[in-house]
Amino acid sequence: MKTLVIVAHPNLEQSKVNRTWMNRLQQEENVTVHNLYAHYPNFEINVEKEQQLLLEHDRIVLQFPFYWYSTPALLKQWQDVVLTYGFAYGSEGNKLQGKEFMLAISSGGPAEAYQAGGYNSYSMSELTRPLQATANLCGMHFLPSFLLQGMMTLTEERLQESTEALAVYVTNPNLRADR
Ligand SMILES: Cc1cc2nc3c(=O)[nH]c(=O)nc-3n(C[C@H](O)[C@H](O)[C@H](O)COP(=O)(O)O)c2cc1C
Repeated sequence: MKTLVIVAHPNLEQSKVNRTWMNRLQQEENVTVHNLYAHYPNFEINVEKEQQLLLEHDRIVLQFPFYWYSTPALLKQWQDVVLTYGFAYGSEGNKLQGKEFMLAISSGGPAEAYQAGGYNSYSMSELTRPLQATANLCGMHFLPSFLLQGMMTLTEERLQESTEALAVYVTNPNLRADR
């Protein structure tokens, strides 16, 4: 199984979580780490190259910090221009069908804030619905997300634990609930 990890962080020099995750995943065999902001600082995405990368991998992971309950802007732009009619969806747009799709998200707010009655009111599963719906439309299998939440209380130890867990998780071939 070949895994593509698309990293979308606008400021990796100042990142703690996503930079650590990215550096660790780069050591994995059969994992291609693709740093989106490094390739397209001006948001001019090479659609053909991105589609080719998708075709070459079985599992697609979007790794990003949660920004305003969503993805950073370049990752939204990536969705808008790369997941085209006739490629990702539409009567003949079946190129992503059967692939696995996963999110790896860091959030400032802690896990307990993301629930009904909590500070952020909604769960991560609810807030990531547009990406789940996108995966569905493209015929991809949406896998349970990998989360690291609560930046105020994040210790170096918890960051290292999560980083090792992420490396195991993204390469685990048996994540589909329907198998
Ligand atoms: C523009 C912006 C928007 C953010 N929006 C959210 C948000 O909606 N929910 C949240 O929990 N954290 C939010 N955060 C906090 C980031 O998710 C957090 O700092 C990041 O995940 C930490 O990862 P890093 O160390 O790789 O930067 C936001 C941060 C920025 C800069």
